[in-house]
Amino acid sequence: AIVGQRHRHESAAAHVTGTALYTDDLAQRLSGVLHAYPVQSTHAHAKILNLEVAGAMNVPGVVQVITAADIPGVNDQGAKHDEPLLPVDEVMFYGQPVAWVIGENLEAAKAGAKAVSVDYEPLESLITIHDAIDADSFHGIQPVIQKGDWDAGFEQATHVFEGDFEFAGQEHFYLETQNSLALIDESGQVLIHCSTQHPTETQDIVSHVLGVPAHEVSVQVIRMGGGFGGKEMQPHGYAAVAALAAKLTGRPVRVRLDRTLDMTMTGKRHGFYATWKIGFDDQGRILALDASLTADGGWSLDLSEPVLTRAMCHIDNAYWIPNIRVSGRVAKCHKTSQTAFRGFGGPQGMLVMEDILGRVAPQLGIEARELRRRNFYIEGQDTPYFQPVRHPDRLEAAWQQVLDSAEVADREAEIAKFNAANEYSKRALALTPVKFGISFNLTAFNQGGALVLVYKDGSVLVNHGGTEMGQGLHTKMLQVAATSLGVPLSRVRLAPTRTDKVPNTSATAASSGSDLNGGAVKDACEQIQARLAQVAAGKFGVPAADIRFAHGKVSALGKSEELEFDDVVREAYMQRIQLSAAGYYRTEGLHWDLARMTGSPFKYFAYGVAASEVEVSSFDGSYVVRRVDIVHDVGDSLSPMIDLGQIEGGFVQGTGWLTLEDLRWDTSNGPGRGRVATQAASTYKIPSFSEMPEVFNVALLDKAHEEGAVYGSKAVGEPPLMLAFSVREALRQAIAAFGAQGRSVTLASPATPEAVFWAIDAVRE
Ligand code: MTE
Ligand code: HPA
Ligand code: CA
Repeated sequence: AIVGQRHRHESAAAHVTGTALYTDDLAQRLSGVLHAYPVQSTHAHAKILNLEVAGAMNVPGVVQVITAADIPGVNDQGAKHDEPLLPVDEVMFYGQPVAWVIGENLEAAKAGAKAVSVDYEPLESLITIHDAIDADSFHGIQPVIQKGDWDAGFEQATHVFEGDFEFAGQEHFYLETQNSLALIDESGQVLIHCSTQHPTETQDIVSHVLGVPAHEVSVQVIRMGGGFGGKEMQPHGYAAVAALAAKLTGRPVRVRLDRTLDMTMTGKRHGFYATWKIGFDDQGRILALDASLTADGGWSLDLSEPVLTRAMCHIDNAYWIPNIRVSGRVAKCHKTSQTAFRGFGGPQGMLVMEDILGRVAPQLGIEARELRRRNFYIEGQDTPYFQPVRHPDRLEAAWQQVLDSAEVADREAEIAKFNAANEYSKRALALTPVKFGISFNLTAFNQGGALVLVYKDGSVLVNHGGTEMGQGLHTKMLQVAATSLGVPLSRVRLAPTRTDKVPNTSATAASSGSDLNGGAVKDACEQIQARLAQVAAGKFGVPAADIRFAHGKVSALGKSEELEFDDVVREAYMQRIQLSAAGYYRTEGLHWDLARMTGSPFKYFAYGVAASEVEVSSFDGSYVVRRVDIVHDVGDSLSPMIDLGQIEGGFVQGTGWLTLEDLRWDTSNGPGRGRVATQAASTYKIPSFSEMPEVFNVALLDKAHEEGAVYGSKAVGEPPLMLAFSVREALRQAIAAFGAQGRSVTLASPATPEAVFWAIDAVRE
């Protein structure tokens, strides 16, 4: 079958030769396109006393200035009605757009933005998560997960530990910044080309900002230069600005953020503050956990509630916890509105557990690796929210495969020798597991749609509701369509994602793109194929059930001659048989009770194991990742090369979050209070070639067919990010090697060289 074969990304050649088109490339091909530029707040929190736009209108080339007063519909860009597109009288973070200037070109719009004058009355601002906690400033829900009897668990426990942990968020740093291009036709129909993971929600928000029904607004996505969750909700406001400006001027309008605008205005991964208490028995088995998770939500809710929920549902990671209580809340402060980022809270919840285990292992006198394995789920156990954990044996198999293929025992002996011989450099190797739930917690989002068109010449055009952000979804959908129709890959093409082709779609998020849209594409293809089978059956004089489609040929059981797929299609057309179909898929068997935080929200769990070896220098805390070995479970891979790329990329992005990327805000009481201090590549370092592991081995877990998912495959987009815990835990163990045996190491996150340096300093005391 074509699914399961190694195929390049459908745009690989275009990506590397620079010919792949992105949203802004479309704008550059048009003439008369206007540019938008924001006027940004210079306070973290302030009252707007006066907003004077006349100065801007005197700047040559300025066409329009947009303020809250110009919004004909609802002034809101969020899903929770707490996020005005433009402020009326109060700014909520430093850098917030208070008005947009529309100019003939970028320079005019920029000059116009400088000429807008705003008078502010500064108000008290909360910048850090602790500012918010101290001021009792929270958003929305405060859910609790409870299972078993944690008091009894702690009583039974022979070892009880308590601690807290604050860790940072992450900037998405997609290569293509936020981008929208709005066009308007003679009837007022708006078409928005947008770099969005969630075209349907972009359409919804644009239509309510404009005050028009959804059928007046279409959104198209050709491809994104990365999204990573940062284009799940964040694009809507920029699309609405472009659309509103197009409505007001009657001309095409483009919004294209430069890197600094993007970094100062858009939401990031949530940083968290966690407190915890954990009890173990004498064998190191977890008996009870009591934890609280506070997510740093920023000024508005955005997706913070579901992010928090997923964090709480992943605090167990791969471990059985019989008695547990976890409470959660979202801190509200005067920063960008933090949002979805690959893993969507899962990484944060799991990091808390991996940090606990890494810290307490020396105190329990059990090797961290053994402590982890000993607590793995086994068949028959269920999660803190009562979902049975299926196939935990796959995790055990992946763990064993990594131990073998990474030659862990031999290398640990070598590491011990190295460490004994070197005073200023230490090495360590750590293994960590991943168990990640696949599906949106909110059951309704788990549906997908497709529209498959077969033309008279037998060529096939596939539309589906998912978006391409580099992850290879379109490649997989081509493989699914070719496989289910029985035609060669070269006969199938993919159309850009459009809300007027496939309506009411879910975000391409939660790693569910190929599960949901693959199910829908397959459904559409099977409908068409069933009709073609009738036509072929007539030709062969056999029942339709005996017709087979493969490699562009149509055959019948027991007959030696074959028909061309294209000829059967032409015949079907002549017989007036419909050659297109709308496909639909919904994930069965899910339920989730948000109020009680119980249910079976996930179709299945994706598993993975990583072993990472690092070498740390005590002179400056610098380190290298010497070798990484991963075994990851993608079910029966739809597209093995794409999946390998996702695993490598996810792992590296996770390593960036945990060890390198260091978001800073100005927390002083000076005039820059609340400003994002890291607002360009010069001050915010993401991984590049120089940080790649020197040896990087990735294998897909064998015999991992997932019944009931499209062609037995599993989602891959997010789970591998969390394999990066192994790097952080290896750093912790290398740091420990500088101190006396059995020292527990507390490590900041991100574990930058600076943080590692101070951790070494602490263990040497
Ligand atoms: N891979 C690339 N190259 N670029 C991206 O933006 N986003 C990730 C992941 N892999 C991303 C990526 C995120 S956050 C998700 S949820 C999934 O891809 C979404 O796509 P899928 O559902 O098709 O896996
Ligand atoms: N990831 C995981 N779960 C989600 C997401 C996501 O991006 N969006 C909504 N639920
Ligand atoms: Ca938020």
